[in-house]
Amino acid sequence: MNRDDFPMLNQDIIYFDNGATTFKPYSVINSVKDYYENYSANAHRGDYDISYKVDLAFENVREDVRKFINAKEKEEIIFTSGTTMSMNIMVQTFFKKYLEHGDEVLITQTEHASNVLPWFNLANEIGINVKYIDLDQDYHVTIDNVLKAITPNTKVISLAYITNVIGDVRPIKEICKLAHERNIFVCVDAAQAAAHTKIDVQNLDVDFLALSAHKMYGPTGIGVLYGKKELLNEASPYMLGGGMNESFDSVNEIVLKDLPYKFEAGTQNIAGVIGLGAAIKYINNIGLDNISLYELNLRKYLINKLEKIPYIDIINYDADSAIVSINVDNIFPQDIAYYLNKYNVCVRAGNHCAKLVKNVTGVNNSVRLSLAFYNTEEEIDEVANLLSDLNKIKEEMI
Ligand code: ALA
Repeated sequence: MNRDDFPMLNQDIIYFDNGATTFKPYSVINSVKDYYENYSANAHRGDYDISYKVDLAFENVREDVRKFINAKEKEEIIFTSGTTMSMNIMVQTFFKKYLEHGDEVLITQTEHASNVLPWFNLANEIGINVKYIDLDQDYHVTIDNVLKAITPNTKVISLAYITNVIGDVRPIKEICKLAHERNIFVCVDAAQAAAHTKIDVQNLDVDFLALSAHKMYGPTGIGVLYGKKELLNEASPYMLGGGMNESFDSVNEIVLKDLPYKFEAGTQNIAGVIGLGAAIKYINNIGLDNISLYELNLRKYLINKLEKIPYIDIINYDADSAIVSINVDNIFPQDIAYYLNKYNVCVRAGNHCAKLVKNVTGVNNSVRLSLAFYNTEEEIDEVANLLSDLNKIKEEMI
């Protein structure tokens, strides 16, 4: 599907590491090139034609993002360097002020580091307690287990929409409903979700949501923090500098700009923002429903192939996403990645920045095959074929 749009796919490789980053279509690459070649001015600072053009392009992308996640207002869209920065801003600006010693934040042991470490840090700083929601036998979050984990001290539930190793899709809407009935905030790490499933922040009713452009066919170094306007208004900025202040004269006379600018200090990643806009257009043209359907069928096809190989352990057999994590006959996952690389197959091996997963799966490391809509059944056949000869793997892995 649409493989010709991606220059990286002209190379003789099979790329199954889309959970780490996706390839970029020509339209994204060209939008960045066009900015650097034709209107490479700063944003919100100039009074000449090309700077007006940048201002317009930059703010149009904010509107594109708003529509993409169906936020109520454009001011709720903050540009960041990616999901990690978004999560850190959210924790260090809003929650550091809001939470008190003894308050509880619920996460799971299958979260990525960027939804664990900012909370651990806050635990060290102000004495909140970070607790884990139990997972079911497939490592999924159930409503029953969320309810069991909530105590009178629970103030926040912070979850990935789709996790990066288990690939399970969380029931975010139901969780928001039960959380809000108890005055609990819900934060969502949507890094692995944004390119694969439709996100509607108003329908879900999430309080904060983070995403990265580079995992949705856009450039690296650019992402988004969404927050409900009334919450972002409460938060003080993480960084101060040019572009985010209205005026300053002395220590006591600093006037900040309104949302979203108070969170966007310094020259922004303008090329990244423009590339993100092109990525959103690209995704919208194909349609997230089409992408999701195609990828889920591809996942089924992959599972079907892998389950026929007796020595392959599929860690996340039941997951409605494009992520499949496996182990091969207790062979060190990096050795499998090394073996596959000899045949130009790109997969990720290790703990995938989710270092608590082992506590629930009992598996320290895995080989992750993460698919995108440009992958094909033929590629899966080739990879399954490579994995189906244990002797060959053992001979060639080192
Ligand atoms: N967070 C990215 C991954 O899961 C890098 O691979």
